[in-house]
Amino acid sequence: MLTKYNSSAIIFHLVQGLMIVFLLVTGTFVLSEIPNTIEKFGSFKIHMILGLIVLVLTIIRIINIGKHPKLEPLKVSSFREKLIKFNHIAIYVVLTLVGLSGILLSKGSGIGEMIFFGMDGEIYNSFKDYNMGIAHGILTKVLLFLIAMHIVGVFSYRLKTKENILSRMWFTKK
Ligand code: HEM
Repeated sequence: MLTKYNSSAIIFHLVQGLMIVFLLVTGTFVLSEIPNTIEKFGSFKIHMILGLIVLVLTIIRIINIGKHPKLEPLKVSSFREKLIKFNHIAIYVVLTLVGLSGILLSKGSGIGEMIFFGMDGEIYNSFKDYNMGIAHGILTKVLLFLIAMHIVGVFSYRLKTKENILSRMWFTKK
């Protein structure tokens, strides 16, 4: 049975992880803090392009999961095994919903057409004026919680078993 992920899964995990952290941090502490003026368009554009790439990568990853043989199971209780499964599925589901709500928010507010196609329109005051904007914000907090749960799980497994579980998702020799 396989003891570590293959290179393509490792690259996907690394690239997506970095992009998601960037989007969560800059979305929360930069984007939603700047007033909505034309000067914000550049930051909006970067956020939307990266968000779309993350969404596409997530969909590709979901399609690919079923195609690869399963890894050797971890030495955990059946409860923890269920929790790990829940965490992994929830991350993919919530990530897809974050991406889709972002698209619907930029479509509903017209900001997408203004930024990408140069259309005229009124720039919205706050993304919280739109249900999709509120949904996008809440979903990003849920995603943050799931990612924190994911990281705590990895380190608590390492503390408990003294096994470097991170090596399953890194470019180390078998
Ligand atoms: C899939 C990964 C994505 C992540 C992790 C993410 C993360 C975030 C975060 C953390 C915020 C701030 C929310 C708040 O402060 O409550 C935000 C706002 C926003 N996001 Fe995303 N986003 C993603 C994808 C997208 C996509 C695909 C689009 C559109 C194509 C988009 C459009 C927006 C817009 C328009 C805002 C509002 C910004 C503002 O008005 O201040 N996002 N996003």
